[in-house]
Amino acid sequence: MTRVLSGIQPTGEIHLGNYVGALRQWALDQHEHDSFFCVVDLHALSADIEPETLRAKTVEVAAILLAAGLDPDVCTLFVQSHVHEHAELGWLLGCVASMGELRRMTQFKDKTAKGDEGAARVGLFTYPVLQAADILLYDTDRVPVGADQRQHLELCRDLAQRFNQRYGETFVVPDAAIPKVGARVMDLQDPTMKMSKSRSSPQGKVLLLEPPEVVAKKIRRAVTDNEAEVRYDPATKPGVSNLLELLGVATGATPQELADKYDQYGPLKADAAAAVVEFLRPVQTRFRELADDLGHVERVLAKGAEKAQAVAARTLHRAGSAMGLLPRR
Ligand code: AMP
Ligand code: TRP
Repeated sequence: MTRVLSGIQPTGEIHLGNYVGALRQWALDQHEHDSFFCVVDLHALSADIEPETLRAKTVEVAAILLAAGLDPDVCTLFVQSHVHEHAELGWLLGCVASMGELRRMTQFKDKTAKGDEGAARVGLFTYPVLQAADILLYDTDRVPVGADQRQHLELCRDLAQRFNQRYGETFVVPDAAIPKVGARVMDLQDPTMKMSKSRSSPQGKVLLLEPPEVVAKKIRRAVTDNEAEVRYDPATKPGVSNLLELLGVATGATPQELADKYDQYGPLKADAAAAVVEFLRPVQTRFRELADDLGHVERVLAKGAEKAQAVAARTLHRAGSAMGLLPRR
């Protein structure tokens, strides 16, 4: 059976881009593949975050994943730091990765562009190595993520292949699974940049848990362009194409088909707003139920960590042995 793994950071507010690009695929994947999903709290430490905030966000994000449809009887849901093998394999892979390839990561370059590299956290630099450990520990075949993770997945594949060549066949080389539509939901106020937890303005991003009337208003006020032609072309018409993709994801139609049905922006915006509201409604309803019982969420995470660790411990041992670590007697 195909093995799936993906992760999400417990930082900021989960938004429509996270749901459309990632979580929605996870909920589908769990029924077809042996699936592992983790809340990557160690990755969240690569930026400054209040300890109390990190703790609270970790449970909240787990609750959101359950609300988005992850079923703990079907998939394995856990917190990264609960399975210490992630950090350990991260070290081993850090001894396989090079400074040059990590320096080329656009996420690292973007996040250090303003300040100087010398002041950047080492954890931000080695972030993709830990991500590779997350993936390789589970003999993962398929990693469902948004398009912004493509480069990190390439690095993970490179590290797996290099390790296998140097130390013998040890890791499965994974593939990224990036959705055809909705892999890069754009900021509603600046459709040339992706909708982002940290960079988008409040008007530019739709939060998964915000009230329907707020969601609808943000989409109706989305920036388009001053032509008056509904056409699906992300390169030259990013705002309109983003609305067509959102409407498409929410209704199951393709953006191209939808483009033929509209000749004005007003009705497109109104329909996209209504469709996204309906699309998010079941997630919001389930979240409200779960939020009253965080004890249940923590029990799910405890069981998940146990299942995850059983797999991770074997892979870590295999990797360490291949590299020549002396087994403990
Ligand atoms: P993050 O918020 O960085 O923890 O991302 C969690 C998941 O959401 C990753 O798989 C990302 O690729 C995906 N994602 C984040 N932003 C977007 C976006 N604007 N459009 C589509 N997917 C996204
Ligand atoms: N880097 C990913 C993001 O920011 C989160 C992540 C961490 C991840 N570990 C992972 C995604 C393993 C997929 C698989 O979105």
